[in-house]
Amino acid sequence: MSASRIINAPSLANCDLLELGREADELARGGAHWFHVDVMDGHYVPNIGLPVRLAGELKQKYPAIETDVHLMVTDPMSYLPLLEANRADWVSFHMDATNFSRRVLATIREMGMKAGVVINPSQPVAAVEPVIHFVDYVVLMTVEPGYAGQKFMVDSLPRVSELVALRERHNLDFLISIDGGVDYPNAIECARRGAEVYVTGIFTVFRQADGIAEACRRFQRALETEAGL
Ligand code: DX5
Ligand code: ZN
Repeated sequence: MSASRIINAPSLANCDLLELGREADELARGGAHWFHVDVMDGHYVPNIGLPVRLAGELKQKYPAIETDVHLMVTDPMSYLPLLEANRADWVSFHMDATNFSRRVLATIREMGMKAGVVINPSQPVAAVEPVIHFVDYVVLMTVEPGYAGQKFMVDSLPRVSELVALRERHNLDFLISIDGGVDYPNAIECARRGAEVYVTGIFTVFRQADGIAEACRRFQRALETEAGL
C-alpha cells in the first residue's frame, strides 16, 4: 500500500477504450496507487462493465499498482475464483447483492485478497456495522452505481463522517473509499473528514488539460495538502 494516506484509484471505466493501454501507462506515470476496475453483470446494474481479466493483465504489466475490483453483480461469490486467478488485490461487493456478506468476505480473505463491502446512497451507513470487523475497506457510493461520469451526491458528505465515526467507535483501521463523481471540492471535503481512497474519473484525472499523468499528481498534492499530510 502507499505510504501516504491518500490513495488515488483511477476508474478504468473512464478510459477511452481504444486508448486503454496508453492511458494505463499515463496513470502509472502519474503515480496512481490502485487501478479501480468496475465489473458489472447487466443485472445488479443496468450496464456491462470491464472484464475481470483486465485486472490480471494490469497486474502483470504494473505489479506495483494494486488492483481494486468493484463487483456490481448479483452473485459476488461466483466471481471469486476468477478474481483469485487474476490475482486481484482488493475486492469489494455490494452488501445488498447477497444474504451472506460475512461468508463472501471470509472467502475473499481466504483467497489472499483484501475484502470490502460497498454501500449505495439509499442504504444507511450503519448497514455495515455487523460486518465491520471483517473488512479491509468500505466503499461509500456517492452516485447510484452503474455508470461513470455522474454527479457527486453532496448529501454523501455527512455519511463519510458517519463512517469515520463508526470506525473510531470500534477502534478499527479499515480504509474508506469514495466512489462516484469524485471532483475537487467534494474530494477535498472527504479528505478533511478522513476518507483515504478516491476512485477518480473524468472530473479529476481523465480528460484534463494537463494530461492524465500530471492530473494524477495534481490531485494527489491537493488532497494531501487538504488532509494535512
Ligand atoms: C460507478 C462506478 C465508478 C465510476 C467512477 O458505478 O462504480 O467507479 O466509474 O467514475 P466517475 O468518477 O466518473 O463517477
Ligand atoms: Zn466503482
